[in-house]
Amino acid sequence: MTTSPREKNAPRDVNEAAIIAAKSDIASGKNSKKVFIKTYGCQMNVYDSERMADVLSPIGYAPTDAPDHADLVILNTCHIREKAAEKVYSELGRIRKYKETNKPDMKVAVAGCVAQAEGAEIMSRAPVVDMVLGPQTYHKLPEMIAKVHRGTGQLLETEFDTLEKFDELPELRQPKGFSSFLTIQEGCDKFCTFCVVPYTRGAEVSRSVAHVVAEARQLAAHGVREITLIGQNVNAYNGLGEDGKEWTLGQLIRHVALIGGIDRIRFTTSHPRDMDDDLIETLGNEPKLMPYLHLPIQAGSNKVLHAMNRGHTYAEYKELIAKIRAARPDIALSGDFIVGFPGETETDFQQTMKCVEEIGYGSSFSFKYSVRPGTPGAGLPRQVPEDEKQDRLVRLQALLYQQQQDFNKSLIGQTLSVLVEGVGRKDDQLFGRSPYLQGTHFDGPKDLVGQIVNVKITDAGRNSLVGELA
Ligand code: 5AD
Ligand code: SF4
Repeated sequence: MTTSPREKNAPRDVNEAAIIAAKSDIASGKNSKKVFIKTYGCQMNVYDSERMADVLSPIGYAPTDAPDHADLVILNTCHIREKAAEKVYSELGRIRKYKETNKPDMKVAVAGCVAQAEGAEIMSRAPVVDMVLGPQTYHKLPEMIAKVHRGTGQLLETEFDTLEKFDELPELRQPKGFSSFLTIQEGCDKFCTFCVVPYTRGAEVSRSVAHVVAEARQLAAHGVREITLIGQNVNAYNGLGEDGKEWTLGQLIRHVALIGGIDRIRFTTSHPRDMDDDLIETLGNEPKLMPYLHLPIQAGSNKVLHAMNRGHTYAEYKELIAKIRAARPDIALSGDFIVGFPGETETDFQQTMKCVEEIGYGSSFSFKYSVRPGTPGAGLPRQVPEDEKQDRLVRLQALLYQQQQDFNKSLIGQTLSVLVEGVGRKDDQLFGRSPYLQGTHFDGPKDLVGQIVNVKITDAGRNSLVGELA
């Protein structure tokens, strides 16, 4: 069925009507509401939460860090592992009690991937919830809020149209600091057998170069110095370029690097299969790209990689890493690992340990496999018992944490550029991020916040660095 331009514009009209009505309320002093957004999970959720705040600002909602005072509470949820969803349900229990005793007119929304995957279940399991909206529908929040206030009962919006969402979002970004995420790609077509993302975020879709550049320029105009280009499969980026052709991530990065004010660029999360030569060369040649790459392998055994449908072997990954290191010798690698995927034996697990020893990671994220209903992994035989998963995770993390600590210690004595993001706990203490993303603490005057300064590293722990202005 084709959609006429008029129909396609209809939701925008409703949004605009809600915005106009709310703006007149604000002008008359009737409306200055507070929204509390709690974000779970990945960077894309952090980005989405900021965009929800952007959507709500024109209708009179100001963000608050105090849930107790909020007129609207939004839980922006993550479904990647079991515990993430359970945390949402227990948070909803606390909200229900608070709402019943203190603030009966508080409205509650559940957004994000749990909302997408379990929309109807959330509504029946948690009647306190007024609105359930998936990751592709949060531009409809003003319309949904208006309806809820009219007493429509619980509302569910979990359609899929990623590009429509980006078209409908307001232009103004209100970045919180000097480093900002920018979504360039969403969804995933890789279908790793353990993962829910292809089901909750949908198919791979890339935003056009023009859209990305316009948003990056707005961020720069608001003082942002560092942009992290994000996507579930960011290096599968193939957005429409200014020449009408599909652009690669390397091309896009080189273009964003031309924007004045943007001094640092990062991108995440990459898939080994989409790491093309152009991107590797860009890592080597583009000075604004930070020397840090998150490139998950998940497991070291070829048998497990195959069962996970990762589409590459350990040898191929190792070869890729060698190529990347040849192009950018100072690069630090970060990875994701899963232990206890169905069928993983102790011998397979030892291959993961060998991979970590051979590759060497500056930072990492490691997880026990968690069954995700609806994914192929859930139906596989030979699920690994919980105690074995736990035992493997402990051994893997001991190695990964040691590597992280050793990497941080190896930086002692070096001078690193640090983007100063804010002040520390004590007077004259500053906090920023190194090129390798470590939090870095040092003394200095407050007016350096927002600047990129040289810091000589004097001490290092597993999670952060300490230094002095160089
Ligand atoms: N169980 C455990 N870890 C998972 N991840 C994704 N799905 C699962 C799952 N079902 C991990 C992967 C991925 C990261 C974002 O989360 O390591 O790269
Ligand atoms: Fe999930 Fe695999 Fe896609 Fe990453 S590449 S989002 S792990 S399906």
